Amino acid sequence: MLNNMKPFISIFSCTNWYLKYVGIPVTVGIAVYVLLNQICTKRRRAALQGKVVLITGASSGIGEALAHAFYDQGSKVVLAARRLNELERVKQDLQSKKLPIKTHEPVILVLDLADLDTIDNFVQKVYELCGNIDILINNGGVSHRGSILHSKMEVFKQIMFINYFGSVGLTKAVLPKMVERKSGHIVFVSSVQGLIAIPDRAAYAASKHAMQAFGDSLRAEMKQHQINVTVVSPGYIKTAVSLNALNESGGSHGVMDKSTASGFTAEYLAERMLNSIVNKENELIVSQFIPNLAIFLRHFTPYVYFWFMGKRAMNTKLQN
Ligand SMILES: NC(=O)c1ccc[n+]([C@@H]2O[C@H](COP(=O)([O-])OP(=O)(O)OC[C@H]3O[C@@H](n4cnc5c(N)ncnc54)[C@H](OP(=O)(O)O)[C@@H]3O)[C@@H](O)[C@H]2O)c1
Ligand SMILES: *[C@@H]1O[C@H](CO)[C@@H](O)[C@H](O)[C@H]1NC(C)=O
Ligand SMILES: *[C@@H]1O[C@H](CO)[C@@H](O)[C@H](O)[C@H]1NC(C)=O
Repeated sequence: MLNNMKPFISIFSCTNWYLKYVGIPVTVGIAVYVLLNQICTKRRRAALQGKVVLITGASSGIGEALAHAFYDQGSKVVLAARRLNELERVKQDLQSKKLPIKTHEPVILVLDLADLDTIDNFVQKVYELCGNIDILINNGGVSHRGSILHSKMEVFKQIMFINYFGSVGLTKAVLPKMVERKSGHIVFVSSVQGLIAIPDRAAYAASKHAMQAFGDSLRAEMKQHQINVTVVSPGYIKTAVSLNALNESGGSHGVMDKSTASGFTAEYLAERMLNSIVNKENELIVSQFIPNLAIFLRHFTPYVYFWFMGKRAMNTKLQN
């Protein structure tokens, strides 16, 4: 009987040995790392006190959530978008909060990212009001719904101007002073669609791919100037993005997509972004399983990805 048990006993003592010399040290190591990381992140977040953070697209969704996240840390937030009344609402919401730390009055300024000629004056105004800019968050943007065949050329231009050229213009306008001060941080809110492209979003995916590429070049060039660059690629986030997306003729899509409605909250993304920014990470992807899988397939088995996308385009065509 005991003889029969022998192999099992030796397996047990083997797992015992494994636990003692590998399992426990690795687990403790990971736990210590996670804890230290959390302590460091908390301390770095505290350093946001008094920092000037310029956020575009702050009148709604992700930009609005970012405004709250940075304001809560005591940053001086500068909120930009086209709709002044919405910016006023966000400012009021911020100022009605009771926070245990010193806060700074938010600055609100109208900005149309597509109007490139106004960007230099806009940045000048921010310098007059706040002295300098520590963090620029290029977040303002619009999406696209429609086929390449039927979307007007104007739609492609408009989306490229707002999402890409607007962010390039703003970044170029704030860089000289950041380089001079040898400090600053530029953040881009790209998208999973800056990494993969799907049918019926061509104008949007192209603008975000451009943004991703610009961010990567910028990061390399800015290393010598001690300026950090973070490119954020969110998956589905529950905002008005699909309502505001441009359709084939350039009007508002006006539909709350199911995928968007069931996405992460903007507040969750803003928290993840805040941590990523204070830790000066190069990239952050905050996405669901399917978009993550799609990024993997596009990279490692492009043929499979193209097959799925072809299917997807056929299916939406049947629905229309
Ligand atoms: N929600 C998602 O699932 C998702 C996923 C990945 C990436 N993103 C990106 O996240 C960013 C924010 O979008 P969101 O989801 O928060 O959507 P949203 O609620 O529609 O917010 C878009 C923001 O961009 C601003 N904006 C639009 N056109 C502008 C222009 N011409 N000039 C200046 N500001 C402009 C809007 O303000 P005004 O209308 O007042 O100008 C608004 O504040 C976008 O770049 C979007 O591409 C979103
Ligand atoms: C961010 O900038 C600091 C200061 O120049 C630099 O030491 C650090 O390596 C940068 N971080 C990344 C991820 O490039
Ligand atoms: C685009 O949106 C506008 C306004 O929302 C609407 O009038 C128009 O019919 C839409 N066009 C298409 C092709 O869906």
